Amino acid sequence: MLISLGPQAFLCPTPVLLVGTYDAEGRPNIMTASWGGISCSQPPCLSLSLRRSTWTCQALQRRDAFTVSVPSRRMVGQVDFAGLVSGRQEDKFRTLGLTPTPGEHVDAPFVAECPVVLELLLRHKLELGSHIQFVGEIMDVKVDKDCLTPEGLPDPSRIDALSFAPLTKEYYGVGEFVARAFAVGKTVKRGS
Ligand SMILES: Cc1cc2nc3c(=O)[nH]c(=O)nc-3n(C[C@H](O)[C@H](O)[C@H](O)COP(=O)(O)O)c2cc1C
Repeated sequence: MLISLGPQAFLCPTPVLLVGTYDAEGRPNIMTASWGGISCSQPPCLSLSLRRSTWTCQALQRRDAFTVSVPSRRMVGQVDFAGLVSGRQEDKFRTLGLTPTPGEHVDAPFVAECPVVLELLLRHKLELGSHIQFVGEIMDVKVDKDCLTPEGLPDPSRIDALSFAPLTKEYYGVGEFVARAFAVGKTVKRGS
């Protein structure tokens, strides 16, 4: 039996991302974001929804650029801190002992310690209510060489990403391999 919880900002799981920007003084900053995900295949795009009050929201629009670094499970404390404290008051990179690295393709810094990094140019903006949704075009994807399969593809088990459960406010791992996509569905038997 399904129990209605009413209209809520809930989905399970949501990603755990670190958004990198330079502020007006050129200081690198990161914030944690879970309201986001891939939104187009060609051109490759990612969308992100930010509160106007975040330092990142202003910074991202000033340079039309941002990065998304995907942290691994071992970084969960640093991730939570980046979502509790604003870059307006504190240099989070310094406090967390993380390395701000200039993007190669966009005017924004990424987190060198993360296993996956996306560099994005801001393409669209949509005022939704409490949040503004930004759509960025992915200009590059970088993956730690130790997190690649022998075929050179990103290996989720080595990336060891986090997910966020919104209403219980908990972090989870992403879980184990289940089945091959666009393949396991072919085993379904259609009813007559
Ligand atoms: C797990 C988690 C997910 C979050 N997701 C978002 C989000 O998607 N959008 C948002 O505006 N704030 C989100 N926040 C809150 C911001 O990270 C927080 O307001 C942060 O201090 C903003 O940093 P800044 O002012 O340096 O940009 C999240 C926080 C946590 C802990």
